[in-house]
Amino acid sequence: MLNWDQMPALLPMRCSRAWVEIDLAAIRHNVRQFKAGLAPQTALMAVVKADAYGHGATRVAQTALAAGASWLGVATVPEGIELRQAGIEAPILIMGAVYHPAEIRAVAAWQLQPTIVSPKQALIFAETLSAESESAVLPVHLKLDTGMSRLGYDWRQAVEFASFVAQLPALRVVSLYSHLATADSPDLTCLRAQQRRFEQAIASLRQAQLLPPKLHFANTAATLADPQLHYDMVRVGLGLYGLSPAPHLSGILNLRPALAVKARITHLKALAAGAGVSYGHTFIAPTDMRIAVVGIGYADGVPRRLSNQLRALIQQRSVAQIGAITMDQLMLDVSDLPALQVGDVVTLLGHSGAQQVTADDWAAQLGTISWEILCGFKHRLPRILVDGHSVREGDSPAADSAIAASHPSSAIASDS
Ligand SMILES: Cc1ncc(COP(=O)(O)O)c(C=O)c1O
Repeated sequence: MLNWDQMPALLPMRCSRAWVEIDLAAIRHNVRQFKAGLAPQTALMAVVKADAYGHGATRVAQTALAAGASWLGVATVPEGIELRQAGIEAPILIMGAVYHPAEIRAVAAWQLQPTIVSPKQALIFAETLSAESESAVLPVHLKLDTGMSRLGYDWRQAVEFASFVAQLPALRVVSLYSHLATADSPDLTCLRAQQRRFEQAIASLRQAQLLPPKLHFANTAATLADPQLHYDMVRVGLGLYGLSPAPHLSGILNLRPALAVKARITHLKALAAGAGVSYGHTFIAPTDMRIAVVGIGYADGVPRRLSNQLRALIQQRSVAQIGAITMDQLMLDVSDLPALQVGDVVTLLGHSGAQQVTADDWAAQLGTISWEILCGFKHRLPRILVDGHSVREGDSPAADSAIAASHPSSAIASDS
């Protein structure tokens, strides 16, 4: 991937074609919304795996920690190392399963905290760490499978699992957790079954005097759905980025989407009725029309399957995308906007005046979930960090520098 920061000559071009804007003020706002809904003793883990769901892990983590999160959650060891290399000292949970000795040594060296999903994996950790001469005791988190059928040890064998790990001197168990499969469903039957299993595991561990000091269970949906599920910590991903996991959970907190996708018009032209547009001519001009070519395509993360369905925002108006979305470009019907010029900004995701297009809109059109949409913008789009201010539609291609100059205190920076 292009590293824009390492190529100073490219910096003035960051907003010349297409870019992703991340509003750190929205991240801060969302973290505070969640914190306000938690009991004072309940910690907030900011889930920043997958490059913070495409928002940029380091800056999101720093912003979330400054706003009240106290833990970070990632999926892989390199994701944890990236945060440590940026100087972040907060505890970091690796939520994926780690087995490889090189990764285990890296977990210890970078003071990351792994998830242990089986006695066998615990043993691999203990043996690898015991072979290291100066290894300190490693804090670990036990994961139970209570119904997700993904990572975790069978909840019915929680005592055997915990007692096995407890006798390994290289490891110290600091938490017990599980993950919910259906927390975003209005039907709570499955969630309640998982909750009962987690509670039974907790009771048996307590009786065996093996209960870890910290318990956690809730993702964004469960955090919103029921405070009983908060335990000692909640692990919030999607909500941090300002989206709701499901319509019935959307009014509970006032969340603000943090990510916008924008691009510029690169060419304007008149089409005669009957002209076909783009590969395959899947759109034929029904009348004479004016179209705009926009410098963003499926290689940038705009799904090709949205061809002829996508709506884009220009100057507070919603316009139709026409023809197949191509690798680097797409076309819009701008017949009703005669004053447009090359260089004008188009908002693919985000808002323009009162109009808004969200990742939920795209997800609904594509039959997927907003998580997948957010994670899709990571190829060649520069990421522009804004702090409450965004690149406006009338701004020139050097807009990010202009905004930085007019708001010297705002954290606008390239972060690819
Ligand atoms: C174990 C675990 N906890 C928490 C989360 C955060 O989920 P969400 O983005 O729904 O808040 C995830 C994300 O997939 C996860 O895998």
